[in-house]
Amino acid sequence: MKLDSGISAVITGGASGLGAATARRLAAEGVKVALFDLNAEKGEALAAELGGVFCEVNVTDEASVDAGFVKSRAAVGQERILINCAGTGNAIKTASRNRDSGEISHFPLDKFDLIIQINLVGTFRCIAKSAAGMMSLDPLPGGERGAIVNTASVAAEDGQIGQAAYSASKGGVVGMTLPIARDLSREGIRVNTILPGIFDTPLLAGAPEPVRQALGAQVPFPPRLGDPAEYAALAHLMVTNGYMNGEDVRLDGSIRMAPR
Ligand SMILES: NC(=O)c1ccc[n+]([C@@H]2O[C@H](COP(=O)([O-])OP(=O)(O)OC[C@H]3O[C@@H](n4cnc5c(N)ncnc54)[C@H](O)[C@@H]3O)[C@@H](O)[C@H]2O)c1
Repeated sequence: MKLDSGISAVITGGASGLGAATARRLAAEGVKVALFDLNAEKGEALAAELGGVFCEVNVTDEASVDAGFVKSRAAVGQERILINCAGTGNAIKTASRNRDSGEISHFPLDKFDLIIQINLVGTFRCIAKSAAGMMSLDPLPGGERGAIVNTASVAAEDGQIGQAAYSASKGGVVGMTLPIARDLSREGIRVNTILPGIFDTPLLAGAPEPVRQALGAQVPFPPRLGDPAEYAALAHLMVTNGYMNGEDVRLDGSIRMAPR
């Protein structure tokens, strides 16, 4: 897909981190951006900077997502691009024993379900609704109607201790990429997924500098945290390379995560 001001994009999680970097990258090429996020303060500020629109959306909430698409399409038009970056994680063992008291507990199922609802069901909800909208568009030369990029994680393949819910949610995103690409192939809508390694985003900002340095040093090459602009560059490639479809790509400096 050739990018210009005739194209618009919805970026979930677009107020921060990987989503914000991708919004900047697309906007720099003229694309009109709509940011879907819970964080209104950061989202409004970035949308204003990029000349786009912010939509306060919770991807776990059907009505909220519907309202987001109504608002974004009224403001910047029917999107041909959807970038799914909204997501979060938790760190809880499946079952564990308290070292001091000996008390045994297990992963609370509501906390497992929440991560699945945000990362997996929320991603699918946005894909399904966006794809249905894209199908109303005339195809571009070559037959393409739209392009979708999802965000999984290397935890889909090498999840660490405590990451059962996160890895299940991201493994689900990886697993559904090919069948969704097949579902949408006749309509000219491509779907690809990025599995980021460890990126320097607000997710990690809370960690002390020595911890961030140590995390970066674990990466074989380059031995540093990923730059969100590097994620945005791959998302951009997945959107603009018309032959790339149904693919899951690790972007991780070749790191393979250890158990902890
Ligand atoms: N940073 C990393 O190292 C890394 C690695 C692997 C995967 N990822 C994935 O990349 C994605 C983006 O992460 P990031 O590092 O940019 O994090 P981030 O916290 O900077 O950005 C995530 C954004 O998603 C939004 N969000 C969270 N829940 C939402 C919901 N229910 N509805 C709408 N918006 C919601 C947050 O408000 C936030 O603005 C996530 O899916 C994350 O799991 C990140």
